[in-house]
Amino acid sequence: MKKKLLSVFLCGIMAATMLVGCGAKAPAAEGEKPATEATAEAKPAEEAKPAEAAPAAGGKIGVAMPTKDLQRWNQDGANMKAELEKAGYEVDLQYANNDISTQVSQVENMITNGCTALVIASIDGGSLGTVLAKAKESNIPVIAYDRLIMDSDAVSYYATFDNYMVGTIQGNYIVDALDLKNAAGPFNIELFTGSPDDNNARFFFGGAMDVLNPYIESGKLNVVSGQKKFEEVATLNWSTEEAQKRMENLITAHYSDGTKLDVVLSSNDSCAIGISNALQSSYKGDTFPVLTGQDCDVTAMKNILAGKQSMSIFKDTRTLAAKVVEMVNAIMKGTEVPVNDTKTYDNGKGIVPTFLCEPVFADKDNYKELLIDSGYYTEDQLK
Ligand code: BGC
Repeated sequence: MKKKLLSVFLCGIMAATMLVGCGAKAPAAEGEKPATEATAEAKPAEEAKPAEAAPAAGGKIGVAMPTKDLQRWNQDGANMKAELEKAGYEVDLQYANNDISTQVSQVENMITNGCTALVIASIDGGSLGTVLAKAKESNIPVIAYDRLIMDSDAVSYYATFDNYMVGTIQGNYIVDALDLKNAAGPFNIELFTGSPDDNNARFFFGGAMDVLNPYIESGKLNVVSGQKKFEEVATLNWSTEEAQKRMENLITAHYSDGTKLDVVLSSNDSCAIGISNALQSSYKGDTFPVLTGQDCDVTAMKNILAGKQSMSIFKDTRTLAAKVVEMVNAIMKGTEVPVNDTKTYDNGKGIVPTFLCEPVFADKDNYKELLIDSGYYTEDQLK
């Protein structure tokens, strides 16, 4: 049954748009937290053709999401709710406005109110230990959604996109865009990653830097500011405003004398949007630098279509939601839970068995196929 569902989800829905898969591999990290920017209505999961699924085991599932402020979490929450209900579960979906104590009390209420499983995209992955100890006492399984929950032995499973691969795709996009294998260079680059308390951020940055470091070491890529360490290039809370401020400062300090900036690595869209704002207002070069992102936020996609961002990473929230429903079903029925990585994600209390979905990049050349044809967005939403 599991296998059958797996192939329905993996191959059926997404094969058409080649979004899903099961990669693995990553570096090391810790911590966690969320972000900002762009709100758009969640594009629900109608087309995601999920749960012609198993006969429902029933029960109430608690779904805790970090914030409505970032588009992706709205989509994640809406898709998760739709998928779980389709599979016959009742759903308690909560958003915590990026406030850690709100999320803790929401999870507490879910436990008290009889949820039989919890799906949590944490705000601060290190802050849920105490409340999750209660879940464990009550034998309530916990699935960490997208972000790993740290330092808790109550986390049963983790479902996410391959975070390391997100970084390598961004790195390789830069390699191709500048033709780094052949061009003489040198090219000037600046680096931005996400929140230092988000476990994912180190994977994204680690993946990208594994691709870019050889070019930096050989001098073909020049980090003009000299800021290369994770701590120097991290953006607290994935804040658009913080990223914009730092990019403004970098332009003033290093690029106001006509020095060309060829490329900016940004780990996600909320940062890329701030970087793009700063470049548009203050960078005087003739050509807009190559600029990466992640999430395919509407604002970022509009920037891509306008030539003010180069690419984003498409993580189809319908795919992740479908996978998590599959996991919930399996847990509830006591059957084998689908995972494809049992090595990478150590949350400080041990390895958490994980399902990694495969991310892909989207840019102006392939967005129609990926985002419009698959029903993720309508053409109008990107105008
Ligand atoms: C998610 C990204 C998102 C970022 C900011 C990360 O944990 O994996 O998709 O852009 O948080 O919300």
